[in-house]
Amino acid sequence: MEPPSLVPNILDPTAPNAQDVCPGYKASNLENTASGFTADLTLAGPACNVYGNDIADLALTVEYQTKNRLSVKILPKYIVPSNYTEYILDGSLTPEPTADGSTTAEDSDLTFTWTNTPSFQFKVTRTSDGEELWNTYGCVIVFEDQFLEMPTSMVPNYNVYGLAENIHDFRLGNNYTQTFWAADSGNPIDGNLYGTHPFYLETRYDNASSSSTSHGVYARNAHGQDWLLRADNITYRTIGGSFDMYFLSGDTPKQVIKQYQEIVGLPVMQMYWTFGFHQCRWGYQNWTVLQDVVDGYANAGIQLEVIWTDIDYMDQYRDFTNGAMNFPVPAGQEFLAKLHAAGQHYVPIVDSNIYAENPDNSSDVYEPFQRGSAMNAFIRNPDTEDFYYGDNWPGFSVWADYLVPQGQDFWTFELVDYHERIPYDGIWIDLSEPSSFCVGSCGDGRLEENPVHPPFILPGEPGNLELVFPEDFEITNASEAASASSALYTQTRVTTTASAAASSTSMAVFMRTKPTPGVRNLNFPPYVINNLFEGHSLLKNTVAPNATHNDEFNTTEYAVHNLFGHQIVNATYHGLLSVFPGRRPFVIGRSTFSGSGTVTGHWGGDNNSRWGSLYLSIAQAFTFSMAGIPMFGTDACGFSGNTDEELCNRWMQVNAFFPFYRNHNVKATIDQEAYRWASVAEATRTVMNIRYALLPYMYTLFYQANTMGETVLRALQ
Ligand code: GLC
Repeated sequence: MEPPSLVPNILDPTAPNAQDVCPGYKASNLENTASGFTADLTLAGPACNVYGNDIADLALTVEYQTKNRLSVKILPKYIVPSNYTEYILDGSLTPEPTADGSTTAEDSDLTFTWTNTPSFQFKVTRTSDGEELWNTYGCVIVFEDQFLEMPTSMVPNYNVYGLAENIHDFRLGNNYTQTFWAADSGNPIDGNLYGTHPFYLETRYDNASSSSTSHGVYARNAHGQDWLLRADNITYRTIGGSFDMYFLSGDTPKQVIKQYQEIVGLPVMQMYWTFGFHQCRWGYQNWTVLQDVVDGYANAGIQLEVIWTDIDYMDQYRDFTNGAMNFPVPAGQEFLAKLHAAGQHYVPIVDSNIYAENPDNSSDVYEPFQRGSAMNAFIRNPDTEDFYYGDNWPGFSVWADYLVPQGQDFWTFELVDYHERIPYDGIWIDLSEPSSFCVGSCGDGRLEENPVHPPFILPGEPGNLELVFPEDFEITNASEAASASSALYTQTRVTTTASAAASSTSMAVFMRTKPTPGVRNLNFPPYVINNLFEGHSLLKNTVAPNATHNDEFNTTEYAVHNLFGHQIVNATYHGLLSVFPGRRPFVIGRSTFSGSGTVTGHWGGDNNSRWGSLYLSIAQAFTFSMAGIPMFGTDACGFSGNTDEELCNRWMQVNAFFPFYRNHNVKATIDQEAYRWASVAEATRTVMNIRYALLPYMYTLFYQANTMGETVLRALQ
């Protein structure tokens, strides 16, 4: 079943402009506090209810938190338990910065100016040079239960960087929309993908004096968002939460990044071996093949530190299991004993979904599901009072609920228990958007069909013989063409999705829901963010927004969708502390949020074996440096599609200077381990000698990131 198609608001010519129809607010009842002031904000005219129900009474708090940080919070005045998580992003989910207790307006490097004419508007300037960092003058502030909007004017041709995660030039430019709605979407150029980091750095260059000033803005909100970067303004829109803004005075890029990392938490320190080279691929068939790869590297004289397995090792794609035929536990233990004896390491993938047993088949026993069910540790379907059953690799599945302690307990138990069978060294968390292959709780009443096949053709399955190569690949290159055509090939569903999305505008059915007094429409909010999937619905490829957690607030996915990936890496980090007491956990996750760097590293996800993908990965890496996740790397040689000798060669070289250095490949494409081509092996040995010689330096940079919020991969100044 497909959800109705929607027109994203930014592409809908008939959508009302909130700035034209909404009244804004008036400030009153000002009260000075030790570090700023508070005031009431009251709707300045009749409610507009443009994309939700206007909140008539708001509370403003302006706080000079540190010399370099000003916080501006606008919340509903009346918050009760039943609407708490609609508006409040609890500090247990991502840190909530507080005042240092000594800074006042007089000694801050930031100045807050406001007016009530014609409605409440404010400016933030840097006191020392008068530079205007944020300015809502001329605009109204809109605060509804499903729509918030705050524009700021910008200088001409502004230089804004950040707003990870995006696949875009490093300078975001002034004709760009950044949407935040975690999506299992591959590496779409300019579309939303895995991570949500609502923080940007703006730099203004003064050519005459060859100097520059920089500042930062962090909007602490986890709801679906659109950031509209336009010629002379930026409009910040969310479909929930509050305005929880932090202005960082800089004034160098380095200071801004530090000031941001002070808020969200400093990056976690890594074990030294994790800076070695990692080899992974989807499609390693068994332990013997894995051993061949380890040997292949040794024979080629290329230092391999870590070997990974993708979902191939599992029994029917179920987490914490091993396929008895190809990856039996005893053989795995032998393989790992040998690997560990050689000083090498092993990291398996763990998917975010948990297979739900077929209740009609008594031999379909999956203990993690049984244990989690007994603990009530899974996200629920509010319509059935049962768990929410989506669909993923193993079939109908559930997702752990990390908003309640039993979610962590469940996860820790499984990580510890699995390690007793397979002594892994770190964990790779995938599909944490969280990805679901169907719309809504599609497994309800259908679990007896389990296991079901994913609703699309897997790479390597018959049905798609299209060959995709790098841009300048020469198909007459006999040896590569032969090896490529001998591999049954399909581009991942990700590229299919992206092209479908591109062609969807003409097919789109217009549908925008109308706000209903007193009611929020979670699955179809009136404001349609620019979610990239075909039809743009929030229901696509993920757990539905109305899925409900077991916490005291019955928090919905609507409020925490963008946080699932953060929570699962956080739970994994803490689980690994039980597996390896006293050791630094090694976690690499796909979906991240502000602050995830405190517990995880990140890989760039499903890039393409194309030169353009290699090019854009450098900007992606810089944005993650800024976001406080320095342990970042992309799939060297490219993931989707076939690589070739020249591209793989250059990619192995570039990524040797990324903190996380891993070669990974989709199933059913040509092999791309660095030893497959003599020239790639040679280039890799050479560049790896440089990398390994520089590792003490990289480790020191990591220490500085971990203790002071410095960056590791950084732009030359
Ligand atoms: C996802 C991951 C990719 C992995 C694949 C199969 O697409 O991003 O790295 O190979 O799933 O598990």
